[in-house]
Amino acid sequence: MKMKKNKFNKIFSLKCIVNGEKIERDIDSSLTLLGFLRNDLNLKGTKEGCGDGECGACMALVSGKAVNSCIMMAVQAHGKSVITIEGLKDKNKLHHIKKSFIDEGAVQCGFCTPGMIISAQALLKTKPKANIKDIKEALSGNICRCTGYEKIIGAVKKCAKG
Ligand code: FES
Ligand code: FES
Repeated sequence: MKMKKNKFNKIFSLKCIVNGEKIERDIDSSLTLLGFLRNDLNLKGTKEGCGDGECGACMALVSGKAVNSCIMMAVQAHGKSVITIEGLKDKNKLHHIKKSFIDEGAVQCGFCTPGMIISAQALLKTKPKANIKDIKEALSGNICRCTGYEKIIGAVKKCAKG
């Protein structure tokens, strides 16, 4: 659908890859990446908590880095690859970090879980042998209101080699 331009917005032709799929959309340039993922692409696994870069519920991977999509503009993803929790898979199997969260009982209400897993994925990609200190640091921007973090950290540690 063609967007109407008015004096308050500028239309930007966004091209990016989301979860392996080429996306081309005309978007309002003031749209956040979170709004684009959730509302334009219907990827509701990326959550909106604080909307202010504080809680980590909205984490997505952009060019392999975990970002708070609520404070990143969608236009900043132009030409980049974005992975959301829906796109995190081990071929056709459940992703190993997702499985570990289930196995370790690291999920209660689940609201923070996508963001936690995205942060863990970014960490383990760069530091496969991450220790507890690395994990705590990597998850320091992710808030969970339900658990005591122990099981979450344990679930990530289980995925670290060594
Ligand atoms: S919703 Fe983005 S950091 Fe809280
Ligand atoms: S499991 Fe509920 S916020 Fe983390």
